Amino acid sequence: MSDVIVLERAVPGAEASSAAAGMLAAQIESRDDAELDGYVAAREAYANWAASLRELTGVDIGYRRSGALSIVSPEGLDAARRLVDSQRARGLRAELIDGTAARMVEPELASGVMHALHFSDEAQVDPPQLLRALSVATSRAGVVIRGGSTVSMLLTEGGRCVGVSLDGREILRADAVVLAAGSWSSLVPGVPDELPRVRPVRGQLLMLEERPARLGSIVFSGHAYVVPRGDGRVVCGATMEHVGHRRELTAAGIHTVLGNSIAIAPRLGEAEFVRAWSNFRPQVATSDGSPGAPLVGRSPLPGLFLATGHHRNGILLAKVTADTVANAVTAAPPR
Ligand code: GLY
Repeated sequence: MSDVIVLERAVPGAEASSAAAGMLAAQIESRDDAELDGYVAAREAYANWAASLRELTGVDIGYRRSGALSIVSPEGLDAARRLVDSQRARGLRAELIDGTAARMVEPELASGVMHALHFSDEAQVDPPQLLRALSVATSRAGVVIRGGSTVSMLLTEGGRCVGVSLDGREILRADAVVLAAGSWSSLVPGVPDELPRVRPVRGQLLMLEERPARLGSIVFSGHAYVVPRGDGRVVCGATMEHVGHRRELTAAGIHTVLGNSIAIAPRLGEAEFVRAWSNFRPQVATSDGSPGAPLVGRSPLPGLFLATGHHRNGILLAKVTADTVANAVTAAPPR
């Protein structure tokens, strides 16, 4: 029996991890100083991780420090100035620039943009490539990945999680069980009631292809963003919808994402439409409705560990989550 078994309902990366746009947008996505510090550390860890994954697996995960612009409305100028001051005070590169300077950074930016925040250290990876690299790396390390396996119950004995039941037919016993079921985490039978609920937030995304490649920088405007891969492909996202596990692409969703993307960079209107998809961000529910912090590390049930609820930042936090969970598992008292 392998030391580590990954149980996957479908195939590895079938859900949110491959569907993500792959932004490592630590300075844009963080909501407070604690998140900022954690997110920046996670973003910085990617440079070495990408290099070691390439060396180990031969797979290039598309890590690029492409920089990011975040469009600022006239009403948002004061908040943008405060954000620049506070990020610079923490030693980070951030500047508020006018539209002319922003179009020097990204010539494809719409002519109506008057101001933007520029974060030159923001980066990106290509999530399907990351998942390919991790499949190879984990297999080489002896991890067994069992696709098509649905956990029908967490098994507990004497107040401790001791394994799982698979499809009600097979029992797998384990010293440690890690709940990493994303938007389905709260639906796994046997998950302790006291854990916060993890709920799905649908994101609809699409890919365009420019020939030749023009867009160079990640650009945000509110919830819309465009993420150029550097080879002509541009990922455009994303809706934020509380519709349960309904996965369908909607006319309004695609209309909104396309409209917002073309408003950011008008020549995207000439790009080829390649495909559209949707998936679910796993969001931790809180009493005031704001997204809660991810659930990572030990749980109230000994033997059960958590790696879920990463909402908009699962790719960014992938490596630090893995490190935290591995440390928690190895530090836990044995059975
Ligand atoms: N991280 C971007 C998104 O969740 O749409």
